[in-house]
Amino acid sequence: MSIASWIAPANIALIKYWGMRDADQVVPWNPSISMTLSQCVSHTSVGYAEARQDEVWWWTPEGLITPSSSFSANVLEQVRRLKALAHSSSSLKVVTVNHFPSGAGIASSASGFAALTLATCSALGLSTTAEQLSRQTRLSGSGSATRSLLGGFVQWPGDASHPDGPAHQIAPAEHWPLRDLIAVIDAGEKPVSSREGHRRAPTSPYFVSRQQHLPVRTEALRQALMGRDFARFADLVEQESIDLHVIAMTGHPPTFYFQPATLAVLKTVRELRAAGLQTCATLDAGPNVHVLCTAEDAAAVLIQLRSVPGVAYVIEDSVGLGPRQTSAHLF
Ligand code: PMV
Repeated sequence: MSIASWIAPANIALIKYWGMRDADQVVPWNPSISMTLSQCVSHTSVGYAEARQDEVWWWTPEGLITPSSSFSANVLEQVRRLKALAHSSSSLKVVTVNHFPSGAGIASSASGFAALTLATCSALGLSTTAEQLSRQTRLSGSGSATRSLLGGFVQWPGDASHPDGPAHQIAPAEHWPLRDLIAVIDAGEKPVSSREGHRRAPTSPYFVSRQQHLPVRTEALRQALMGRDFARFADLVEQESIDLHVIAMTGHPPTFYFQPATLAVLKTVRELRAAGLQTCATLDAGPNVHVLCTAEDAAAVLIQLRSVPGVAYVIEDSVGLGPRQTSAHLF
């Protein structure tokens, strides 16, 4: 077995996946839509291990470390599942590096599990259809990872009448070269994992009404995206982001991902839009704000974001092409 290495991107949800119909099979309540990023990526190499057991390593600026036991357990479980599928009893070594903060609501689990699944399948010589790959990726526990298998703008499941179906690309990256300026407020681990957040979501009294109005919002977002209608897009993206956090804050127990600087960034973005800039904001499960904008307005928005008190730094990203295999092996 040779080493296989893949680089997979994070994505930012425009219509959020928040709540599962089936937690074991990672089947979402509603179709979600995302934009695949290009700079926030995970790079993973998988190959034969000399040790008798599968092993997981994480590249950090300080060198190779053993990741936290919960992270390792999830990675090892995904490796074990894929080995069983390939009827392989070899021990595998996994080395991964994240080129952005992990666990802070910047979809590191999406890029991480997409890269891990792709690299493990390649290392094992496991050939999969797009549907099988999507299923194996989401069974890692990170449903949004299945959207990271594709570039551009992606819907998962692609067909709303098949909730356990694969993701589909709605439009390629070239369709609309949007930027994502990620205002990093806190790069630490979020207080409540997405997995736990999905479990709590249906306990909110607003969950049912959200599910009722989502089909209309999802279709409207698709149309705004296809027509590159930024004003409509901005409205829908911000409504959707606030909805996710309302559901989180009103669940049992409640979950608060916002920090004071989160609100300051949201206010700045609203002011910039009122002043004529094409920009809007969205958050996943964390305090950091993804500030979306057109390429023309990115420089002006960036200057303003950097001056918001509480913003530690801004990651400059944009819509990306999706995962790629690489010959740059990490061991
Ligand atoms: O795929 P998970 O389990 O990491 O959950 C993702 C949840 C959100 O990021 C909040 C929303 C989304 O659709 O990505």
